Amino acid sequence: MIMVAGATGNVGQPLVRMLAAAGEEVTAVSRRITDAPPGVVVRQGDLASLDFAGMSAVFLMVPGAFVPLDEVLGRAKTAGVRRVVALSSQGVVTGRHPAVLDDSVRRSGLEWTLLHPGAFASNALQWAESVRSSREVVAPFADVALPVVDPEDIAAVAAAALREDGHAGKSYVLTGPAPITPRGQAAAIGSAVGEPVRFVPQTREEARAIMLGFMPPEVVEVTLDVLGAPTPAEQQVSPDIERVLGRPPHPFAEWTSRFAGAFK
Ligand SMILES: NC(=O)c1ccc[n+]([C@@H]2O[C@H](COP(=O)([O-])OP(=O)(O)OC[C@H]3O[C@@H](n4cnc5c(N)ncnc54)[C@H](OP(=O)(O)O)[C@@H]3O)[C@@H](O)[C@H]2O)c1
Repeated sequence: MIMVAGATGNVGQPLVRMLAAAGEEVTAVSRRITDAPPGVVVRQGDLASLDFAGMSAVFLMVPGAFVPLDEVLGRAKTAGVRRVVALSSQGVVTGRHPAVLDDSVRRSGLEWTLLHPGAFASNALQWAESVRSSREVVAPFADVALPVVDPEDIAAVAAAALREDGHAGKSYVLTGPAPITPRGQAAAIGSAVGEPVRFVPQTREEARAIMLGFMPPEVVEVTLDVLGAPTPAEQQVSPDIERVLGRPPHPFAEWTSRFAGAFK
């Protein structure tokens, strides 16, 4: 049985679907989960107190809030879990974020795989309301490009690492196939909804004021640094999705056509 934590999230939801479609037995966990594809075991629970009995592999994602990771992974090992695939961040590789999750996973004694995605395509959902109401995207750093990654591609790599041998001890940097700017994302959303979407530039200060409403201050500054002044490594396209999946990552336009309904 494979446990997917964060099962209602951008990555967890498609991961549960892919594992179930591949015929795996899956337990989908989050604090408020209520449904999942047929055959999937649904379990409400907090990451800090997961029960791993009967699980052979676990997909672990850790939200901003503190989770006692060494203890959680120790309980997984004691319960007989063999494999963990953990959703970390490219920011750990580039030194922007502390390696708290990575360090715990590496010393867990489990067969581990670490996923290091760059910025998610799904972050564009923050513009869904303004696109719906006024066909506008309001964002800073209009012309700074990042190779945003489709969470579905992250899920596909996670599914491979959970199901197949050959991924133990590997870390994968996960990006989209090409850098795209916020202005370019607004245009792609316009194409998906079939109407022009206007790009409205925002200053760093305006963006910070809004982000402070839903993110801790230190995360806000790092995020603004990545969005506004990415390093060459953060702008580079990684070959890892194609290496693992045998196909290139999805372009941003593919994500927008799948999520067009959110912007209409
Ligand atoms: N967004 C980006 O650009 C980006 C880039 C790199 C890395 N990341 C990393 O990706 C992760 C976020 O992944 P995502 O976008 O798939 O997540 P998400 O869409 O934000 O969903 C979070 C999931 O975790 C569950 N959850 C939250 N707190 C929980 C808790 N205490 N116990 C159990 N379940 C909990 C949520 O469901 P409930 O609320 O029902 O519990 C939900 O299923 C973060 O670790 C972030 O650092 C994000």
